[in-house]
Amino acid sequence: MVDRNGCGHDRPVLTGSPRSPPPSFVEQANVSDPGIYDEFEENWPECWERAADLLSWRKPYETVLDDENAPSYQWFPDGTLNAAENCVDRHLESGRKTHTAIRWEGKHGERKTYTYRDLYVAINEFAAALRDLGVEEDDVVTIYLPMIPELPIAMLSCARIGAPHNVVFAGLSADALATRMDAADSEFLVTCDGYYRRGDAFNQKSKADNARLKLEQDVSTVVVDRLGDDLPHVLGDDEYDYHELRETFAGETIDPVPREAEDMLFLMYTSGTTGEPKGVVHTTGGYLSHAAWTSHAVLDVKPEDTYWCAADIGWITGHTYIVYGPLALGTTTVMYEGTPDYPDRDRLWEIVDRNAVDIFYTAPTAIRAFMKWGSEYPAGHDLSSLRLLGTVGEPISPRPWNWYYEHIGNEECPIVDTWWQTETGAVTVSTLPGVSEMKPGAAGPGLPGMDVRVVDSTGTEVDSGDSGYLTIARPWPGMARTLYDGDKRFQAEYWDRFSDPDTDDWRYFSGDTARIDEDGYITVLGRIDDVINVSGRRLSTTEIESAITGVAGVAEAAVVGRSSETNGTDVYAYVSTEGGYDDDAAVREAIIDSIETAIGPIARPTEILFTPELPKTRSGKIMRRLLEDVANGHELGDTSALRNPEIVGEIQAEIGEE
Ligand code: WT7
Repeated sequence: MVDRNGCGHDRPVLTGSPRSPPPSFVEQANVSDPGIYDEFEENWPECWERAADLLSWRKPYETVLDDENAPSYQWFPDGTLNAAENCVDRHLESGRKTHTAIRWEGKHGERKTYTYRDLYVAINEFAAALRDLGVEEDDVVTIYLPMIPELPIAMLSCARIGAPHNVVFAGLSADALATRMDAADSEFLVTCDGYYRRGDAFNQKSKADNARLKLEQDVSTVVVDRLGDDLPHVLGDDEYDYHELRETFAGETIDPVPREAEDMLFLMYTSGTTGEPKGVVHTTGGYLSHAAWTSHAVLDVKPEDTYWCAADIGWITGHTYIVYGPLALGTTTVMYEGTPDYPDRDRLWEIVDRNAVDIFYTAPTAIRAFMKWGSEYPAGHDLSSLRLLGTVGEPISPRPWNWYYEHIGNEECPIVDTWWQTETGAVTVSTLPGVSEMKPGAAGPGLPGMDVRVVDSTGTEVDSGDSGYLTIARPWPGMARTLYDGDKRFQAEYWDRFSDPDTDDWRYFSGDTARIDEDGYITVLGRIDDVINVSGRRLSTTEIESAITGVAGVAEAAVVGRSSETNGTDVYAYVSTEGGYDDDAAVREAIIDSIETAIGPIARPTEILFTPELPKTRSGKIMRRLLEDVANGHELGDTSALRNPEIVGEIQAEIGEE
């Protein structure tokens, strides 16, 4: 039934033995009443007021959902609020101004603590500076920063003045930055001189400079001096030093601009079916409500907690669960710079131990690495402060799940396996840790109020135990409202496939395939589009292919995912050159270079296989699915329909020789 079984390899479809949450957890959980599912069901969509009521509204909303223009739904449309006020100011008013908002752990052991009061001062001053640079409400500000405190500060400063931010992951290339700034018509950029990567000072500003050269619009740029004397830089025209601006505007305050609930809070580019990245639009009221609600109900965040989502703010996980969700709830959010194995493989456990972290949220790819490194690293630290563990980004199979449960959670912490996407804004499928049984290998049922359905190609729900397409048959507050390029593409990408506009029956299609069990628990199998998930990062194979075919001498390329023990999926590239079969070191190097230039090092293939030609159908379509099977060593089906079936054997022989 499915177009493809994920990345071509068999995902674990078996789940481990179910486990119940420990009674001590249930007792203190934010949500522990199993009746919550019925409550949401019976009272839909008003049930979502529970999420919106976690926020402070300037003007209270009266309407919960307006579905007049479905699938461009509007949530709490007549209310107004400001996201920065919700994440910062209101916590000062509640008498918690000296409470720690952000605890930052730098790459070289530097530490910084921002109280809510410190954060308030910082975002007011920087908001004043942005205004002075000419940023007006609704201007898109691009932020290209690594994991330093100035990143969330810049985001919240934008939110304060109603300027949507467009954060671009710091590891992406100059070209990728330029594409995103161009697509978003962004005339403002916040970046830094550089940052430390693998111990070296890495120049970020030169990437930003190169991106600016490619843009038609003039760009005002703010540069954060992260490296000081380790990487001297000069400021050119229209470039401003972050710290000098802060000094110039020291002590300034800026009233938070009341935004309509449906006003854009931010834009986030993600990979899609075509090579063109999609600018996903998130709103102020619905997104923030959903972020706060899931932080409360799924991650069990309480204001007195020290909460750590070890992701990068450059992707949606960090937006929702390092910045907006936890700060809306007034908790302490930890952010760390660097990698889990520097200075040693116990870095994360040392941070958990020293900060007495209560809640820890990471990706399966990290858990698989911890497992490989060995349990002695966590065992050397006191992890008893932990109460809840989470995972996100890819499927987690029962073995790493159990390892996480045992060696990090000491069999005392529930694990939430949270399925969601850039487009869903916040968690949509997961167990509720204080309510549900956990099944290792299955994310869980849809959250209360979500109508998640696994369907066949006609849109009919499959029987339990079967697999199909993962769809959502009802709107939810955190959902993307549109794509920056317009509603048409939004509708085509997510809605057309399973909706029936004539009967006003709207179904969101996630692009994922999944299996559903008798309890409605969902195991994600993979994607059906040209997206691969490498270490929890979403990459477009089409985008990588076009970087390869841009290299002189390359005739054709096909990029597929190959199952990998550590990364989940690796990038595997088949290339044919103009000279026919030719494993040329210079071309190989140029290909890697081109990919790093177009996208960034995260898209670097682990394997580049040169082949005289690529297998094609009679109509000339490259058989990527077959190549995926070959890369994964799977048995191949009938290849007689190919125009050039002999090539498959040649490729297999080539792989066999490696
Ligand atoms: C894709 C979304 C939003 C989180 C970070 C990734 C995969 C996400 C899970 C999970 C299995 C998962 C899906 C999804 N995915 N979480 N718990 N189990 N697969 O956001 O970059 O937009 O990628 O990540 O394939 O469609 P993203």
